[in-house]
Amino acid sequence: MTALTLSTAAAPGLRADAIVIGVAKGSASGSGKPVVAPGAEAVDQAYDGRLAGLLETLGASGAEGEVTKLPAPAGFKAPLVLAVGLGAEPEKDSSFDGEALRRAAGVAARALTGSKKAAFALPLTDAGDIGAVAEGVVLGAYSFDTYKESAKAPKAKNGKAPLAEAALLGGKPRDAAHKAALARATAVGEELNRARDLINMPPNDLDPAAFAALAQTAAKEHGIKVQVLDEKALAKGGYGGILGVGSGSASAPRLVKLSYTSAKASKHLAFVGKGITYDSGGISLKPAGHNETMKCDMSGAAAVFAAVVAAARLGLEVNVTGWLALAENMPSGSATRPGDVLRMYSGKTVEVLNTDAEGRLVLADALWAASQDAPDAIVDVATLTGAMMLALGSRTFGVMANDEAFRTAVYEAAEEVGEPAWPMPLPEHLRKGMDSTVADIANMGERMGGGLVAGLFLREFVGEGITWAHLDIAGPAFNEGGPFGYTPKGGTGSAVRTLVRLAELTAAGELG
Ligand code: BES
Ligand code: MN
Ligand code: ZN
Repeated sequence: MTALTLSTAAAPGLRADAIVIGVAKGSASGSGKPVVAPGAEAVDQAYDGRLAGLLETLGASGAEGEVTKLPAPAGFKAPLVLAVGLGAEPEKDSSFDGEALRRAAGVAARALTGSKKAAFALPLTDAGDIGAVAEGVVLGAYSFDTYKESAKAPKAKNGKAPLAEAALLGGKPRDAAHKAALARATAVGEELNRARDLINMPPNDLDPAAFAALAQTAAKEHGIKVQVLDEKALAKGGYGGILGVGSGSASAPRLVKLSYTSAKASKHLAFVGKGITYDSGGISLKPAGHNETMKCDMSGAAAVFAAVVAAARLGLEVNVTGWLALAENMPSGSATRPGDVLRMYSGKTVEVLNTDAEGRLVLADALWAASQDAPDAIVDVATLTGAMMLALGSRTFGVMANDEAFRTAVYEAAEEVGEPAWPMPLPEHLRKGMDSTVADIANMGERMGGGLVAGLFLREFVGEGITWAHLDIAGPAFNEGGPFGYTPKGGTGSAVRTLVRLAELTAAGELG
């Protein structure tokens, strides 16, 4: 992981591989040309105030994601100045928003892969900005090379190590708020990267038992209580949903309960994650073209795991329970068939009409289990439906809830931390599509509005009177395109920051 420090040093004397500065798109009412962002004054002075002009000559516009490299001015200890685009220049008397800084820092960190140390001279106005830049660096520097033997060879071409060290200029090492922002960004960023590692791990190495074992080890390190229900315990407890989904696999399912408790807590939040370590579709097998990325179907569980560990590392004054519903969905002679009826942990029966609608089955059992502790609120996270991807695209997750105020709170928390999200409804009329002739409910309903149908199914397994929200992260969980901002290719760690923010807001008494 990239080591972060705060530094009051001046740019010219800094020993580093690069100085990162910001460049913005000048307002149309102004020059319309690229403008150097605050924080880079000393650098601009060393170029005799010609930096903006030099950048323009080099083709820079200040657009988001843009990287322009130029040789550092004479007398600088660092050889390179790296200008990163921040997008539109803010209005007069306002500053760059946190997400613009986070993305720019991420782009710079990625562009500096292979470098040892960089100094970030970006526009920082408060501790929040320091947190944003720090988070952007830790997240942008991420890479997953565990399985690249070629990258480990001494002179390998692609074997560039992530940026090792980042100094944030303008941050005060003795300022309590600045230090706290850096510590928070480090904890959240590192745990989010841990979630990405889990998502990127190939499914032959990360089966339910392996995931549970990793959770057990990490949780113990951070004083989190762990309980793992294996297939025998699940059978004894009557977890028909999780067992039904896992029955086709040679790797048995698990239900993991992580309990972080604070002596100062007055509220209790439960997070529930869909953890299908591989979703082949089961007997309702997915066609080729739809299963290549299905190792990502445990992204919800990875997010929940990361959020609980982050809450513990931050010592948040709230009790947080994480539930990881882990199973592998495979076809075999022992697999659940379309037509089978499962008796769920809640006692309800479900007719399985499509074995590829497996996420709602494992979540149903975990939601009911979570409800037994009567938490103040439950939030589940799942790569649940292709329909949500069709509705919101690949960068935005849908938020559904049984309480409108809570849905708004979750959506606003997501927005605050820079995670695109959108509120979605749970239209009552879609419930009857799941009526079953043989069981209490079927696991499939109308095709239209499939993401909402899945949400309505889950709602039936939330304990009476408990506030609940459901995040369908099928779109943003796994980035099949190129990297952008601080988001790499592959597992993204979607929803981790929203969950952590919800825990913070609950601890502060600002939620529920
Ligand atoms: N894991 C998939 C949803 C998914 C699709 C996640 C694409 C990420 C990318 C889920 O288990 C699934 O297969 N859902 C079905 C439900 C349908 C059978 C009712 C779907 O969306 O097609
Ligand atoms: Mn499926
Ligand atoms: Zn699935």
